[in-house]
Amino acid sequence: MGSSQALRDARRYEEILEKVIGPLQRPLFHLTPRAGWMNDPNGFCRFGGRYHLFYQYYPYASHWDSMHWGHAVSTDLLHWEYLPAALAPDEWYDQNGCFSGSALETEDGRLMLMYTGVRLETLPNGKKKEVQTQCIAVGDGIDFEKYAGNPVLTEEELPAGGSRFDFRDPKMWRGADGLIYSAIGNRPADGSGQILLYKSADGLSWQYDRVLAANNNRYGKMWECPDFFELDGKQILLVSPQDMLPEGFEYHNGNGTLCVIGQYDEETRTFTEEANQAVDYGIDFYAPQTVLAEDGRRIMIGWMQNWDACAIREPEEPWSGQMSMPRELYLKDGRLYQRPVREIEDMRCDPVAVCDEVISGRVDLPGISGRCVDLTVRIRPKEGSSLYHKVAVRFAENETFRTSVSYRPHEATLKIDRKFSGSRRAIIHQRRALVEESRDGEITLRIILDRFSAEIFVNDGRQVLSAVVNTDPAADGISFYADGEAVIDVVKYTLR
Ligand code: FRU
Repeated sequence: MGSSQALRDARRYEEILEKVIGPLQRPLFHLTPRAGWMNDPNGFCRFGGRYHLFYQYYPYASHWDSMHWGHAVSTDLLHWEYLPAALAPDEWYDQNGCFSGSALETEDGRLMLMYTGVRLETLPNGKKKEVQTQCIAVGDGIDFEKYAGNPVLTEEELPAGGSRFDFRDPKMWRGADGLIYSAIGNRPADGSGQILLYKSADGLSWQYDRVLAANNNRYGKMWECPDFFELDGKQILLVSPQDMLPEGFEYHNGNGTLCVIGQYDEETRTFTEEANQAVDYGIDFYAPQTVLAEDGRRIMIGWMQNWDACAIREPEEPWSGQMSMPRELYLKDGRLYQRPVREIEDMRCDPVAVCDEVISGRVDLPGISGRCVDLTVRIRPKEGSSLYHKVAVRFAENETFRTSVSYRPHEATLKIDRKFSGSRRAIIHQRRALVEESRDGEITLRIILDRFSAEIFVNDGRQVLSAVVNTDPAADGISFYADGEAVIDVVKYTLR
């Protein structure tokens, strides 16, 4: 079981490479590939008392290539242990890649993976194109056997006009009726995106059901990596559209993640859209998947990287790509909110608090520094003084480097700027988000820093800005700046 030459090679290679990468060369608690390249989270689930997270993986180099599935497990979503690679491209139907997919526990206690098999086909004009089908592998949580009847979904089961070249990223769940459902990204004839719904009694034989959601050329083109779940009485569809156009301050990432909030009628399987928003307002976030924790929390992890900005990591670095902080999701006032998973509280130590500090110009605060920190900064105008123009928190700072997050209440814009974070490439380094509710100058930023990233949770998670930083870990300064006068409260924990 699980023993093709390609998989044995990958497993042997990653085991050796893992030992070459020192612990300080990796983040403290964000998952990176065991070796080489990582993109999307796959098969995020709970199985056998642990969380399993698979990922799009090319172990042999720090760039995207023929996709495998890497594998890691955790009990707290923050400390990960690598397991051997789960899938390698070793069958006729997935010879050019095992693309994204999901996992579900079978009734007899095994773990079933559904993924996209990719095979290059030579077209009549001589050009090669990827044909995508859906495939199954079942196993014990470490070794997986690809189903002899693969692929289980091909172009035969596409609705009229659906493209066999863009048909990928199945996300399975078990319905209240006991059937297994799968939402799969596809492109209809209009070149836009759509999410197709399939159903199955056993996970092996599948029928097309209906179009679950159609893009109709509203948000980008192809819709990748769907996830579909109930949250606080509503139904959420997460999709990652390719090639988005920015709208105001939303959707600036080219490839970004869209959250559609609506109602789902399980009987008729109709999803009615009510509202939508971007999921992340920073630079690096894509293709998230969620899991339901035992206590009912819906937890999301995304690939903390933008396809257009992968060059932030230098090609000779031994890994590329990392997962975001796991985030608890909830709805409030019709919006999706995200909070750092509460398990992070067990990693906090050495608290330092500063209260009612009036700042003007640059300020360093005693005891406030570090590169792996959980830092909350509450900012407000100074009574009796005119509204400040700008307040900034700067981190990963020394004489050469700094990354900052700054808020301008007159524009209600929050900006992350990583221009001086060690990147040697002319990729995007700044992003602004509109924070309307903070026009009065009151804003709370919870900043989670790890060695290679910053995630800013704004106003209790109403918005989040994520960005990779590549700054020398020795740059551990944190400072504050105000143009005008502002008052701040700061609480900092070292993460360990
Ligand atoms: C999204 C994606 C998926 C695909 C995978 C390939 O980042 O393009 O649609 O399954 O990456 O690695």
